[in-house]
Amino acid sequence: MKIGVVGAGYFGKNHIREYVNSGNEVIVCDLKQENLNEIKEKFKVKKTTKDMQELLNDSELEAVSICTQNSVHYEIAKKFLEKGKHVLLEKPMTLDSSEAEELVELAEKNNCVLSIGHIFRYNAGLRKLKELISEKELGEVFLARLVWTNLNPPFEDNRDIYFDLGPHALDIIYFILGNLPDEISCRGVPSRDKADQDETTFINCRAGKTLINIDLSWVTPEKKRTVFVVGSKNSALIDCMTQQITLINNADMSEKNVFVQASNPLIEEISDFLNAVKENRKTVSEGKIGAEIVKLIELCHKSVKEQKTVFLG
Ligand SMILES: NC(=O)c1ccc[n+]([C@@H]2O[C@H](COP(=O)([O-])OP(=O)(O)OC[C@H]3O[C@@H](n4cnc5c(N)ncnc54)[C@H](O)[C@@H]3O)[C@@H](O)[C@H]2O)c1
Repeated sequence: MKIGVVGAGYFGKNHIREYVNSGNEVIVCDLKQENLNEIKEKFKVKKTTKDMQELLNDSELEAVSICTQNSVHYEIAKKFLEKGKHVLLEKPMTLDSSEAEELVELAEKNNCVLSIGHIFRYNAGLRKLKELISEKELGEVFLARLVWTNLNPPFEDNRDIYFDLGPHALDIIYFILGNLPDEISCRGVPSRDKADQDETTFINCRAGKTLINIDLSWVTPEKKRTVFVVGSKNSALIDCMTQQITLINNADMSEKNVFVQASNPLIEEISDFLNAVKENRKTVSEGKIGAEIVKLIELCHKSVKEQKTVFLG
């Protein structure tokens, strides 16, 4: 298949590598010549351009990955969907939920696949956890605690922690519980002197009877990507980086490891996208899900700003 990638920065390079490795013809667009030179050299991509119009006008190009900064996701995705191209759009889908909904409608209208880079839906450990929850292996789920922390120097590009780290954590909740939170209470702080944005935030939610606590931080000198789910019978702790699960029996606190064959989530995400294009179906990370997550992030902002609990309408 002939595929375009717009944005060949840190994460776009990973998309390019996987498309090339799976035997697709790839055209790459980036505004920075140094990025284009690097990917030509590294991945032997033959065609690169600084002009996105070349991709939009290419009638043989069927699909595109958009891996640019968040602020231009909407306008770029809209242009490709208007041309009838299938789109894999990095998270967060957009910075505005009405724009996200518009993209969902446009994809429907033009019969395009629109998939969002919620990569943890392709994490074998989280898939297993979802299975354990739906088979009632944990009993009734009382509590979910997610820790998504690392240490970054202060960002210079006004990066928003809710839109940057939030989509993964919030989508994991939606994925494993099958429900969106119905209320959110959120508090954030710009921890360091130079920061003019929150760098640490606690998102507290409730989804039915399940309480959820999400700890997001860029000032924690420990990279953690963990999900701890407490059930009425058993509890499960998953390290999303290794994809391994520890199952804890609540009665005697004994622990056992659940065998999980780790996946390569990006390969799975891209293969779901390409197969959805071939089979004219949706992916497990379809546009509608991306739009729901953007709405939740807007509610986080509202809760922080108004210092109150907000409810999903
Ligand atoms: N799924 C994940 O786990 C994951 C991880 C990291 C980043 N991301 C997402 O990937 C996206 C990119 O992040 P990044 O860290 O690679 O950013 P980056 O700044 O390293 O790269 C973005 C690139 O897009 C290019 N670009 C911007 N506007 C363009 C345009 N109009 N036409 C062509 N190129 C353009 C820039 O020149 C830059 O090279 C973000 O949306 C981010 O949230 C996802």
